[in-house]
Amino acid sequence: MRDEPLVLGIETSCDETGVGIVRGHTLLADALASSVDQHARFGGVVPEIASRAHLEAIVPTMRRALADARVTLADIDAIAVTAGPGLAGALLVGVAAAKGYALAADKPIYGVNHLAAHVAVDTLEHGPLPEPAIAMLVSGGHSSLLLVDDLTAGVTPLGATIDDAAGEAFDKVARLLGLGFPGGPVIDRTATEGDRRSIAFPRGLTAARDQAAHRFDFSFSGLKTAVARWVEARERDGEPVPVADVSASFQEAVCDVLTAKAIDACLANGVRTLLIGGGVAANSRLRVLASERAGKHGIEVRVPRPQLCTDNGAMVAALGSHLVAAGVAPSRLDLPADSAMSLTAVSVAG
Ligand code: KG4
Ligand code: ZN
Repeated sequence: MRDEPLVLGIETSCDETGVGIVRGHTLLADALASSVDQHARFGGVVPEIASRAHLEAIVPTMRRALADARVTLADIDAIAVTAGPGLAGALLVGVAAAKGYALAADKPIYGVNHLAAHVAVDTLEHGPLPEPAIAMLVSGGHSSLLLVDDLTAGVTPLGATIDDAAGEAFDKVARLLGLGFPGGPVIDRTATEGDRRSIAFPRGLTAARDQAAHRFDFSFSGLKTAVARWVEARERDGEPVPVADVSASFQEAVCDVLTAKAIDACLANGVRTLLIGGGVAANSRLRVLASERAGKHGIEVRVPRPQLCTDNGAMVAALGSHLVAAGVAPSRLDLPADSAMSLTAVSVAG
């Protein structure tokens, strides 16, 4: 175990400042500072607030991770940092910090892709990922279906949302139901009291005519509008809004589409492993529906525990460790933060 690389990962692409430390596939520390409360009154993440919060949190979070893992910076074999995609100003804080630490301690640096890190984190909980696998990443910032044949090289994007991300849809619907931010956890809870079959909300991009161009893409903005219209109509008629039924029916529409497309992607690519990551992977109905549907086709579903599904430093360290073990060359010290970083590269080439 001592021979496995000791890798530190820094994550600042959105509203979580994360510093994780792993040795091989073993998680030693996962320190996190979140600015989510500071964004709550705006109903979504405000980039300037996120950047400033990262700046304040990065050094204390770094110290906490090193203390939790009982190591010093000198012990670390490599530093990995999210180079993109994400909010430009937020990414810059993590990338600048990682460069500073790498330069000061003379360590190799890996600028890594945030989405690939969401995939890699599962190895900390469930061991090496069988390849090829399908990964479905669903969060406030992304909704993607990926074919993972080699996590050290590149990942093939099969589809993504063409408008809102899945988590964004949860957040917007929660807002219009007056449930607060972030919307996912509260809709998940509220939905348990409701009837998911009570309202037939639309399933975006599932019609036969969408198969050719958008088989593996998602669309959630029509669903969000349908919920808004439904609620408005009730209010206009002076009737109470059945919040639990609306929550349950909305959640069902999202989870139905996500799981149907994920299983279709597995079958179309002859893949037996489906990995689900990102904040929305914490959704209880999504987990149940995915296992039910996957089970019928002999597909194994892997979902990391909720703390590892949402953004964190451990996922970046996990991907860094994977790259170091595979002998991938580090990035250059002048690596850029790239808010639109493509998935064809898992790390910034050296
Ligand atoms: O991965 P994450 O922490 O941050 C990024 O957006 O990258 O994901 C946060 C998102 C939010 O939109 C939140 O509403 C959603 O994940 N979320 C959930 C649940 N828990 C968090 N959505 C549905 N059900 C949940 N239980
Ligand atoms: Zn994320």
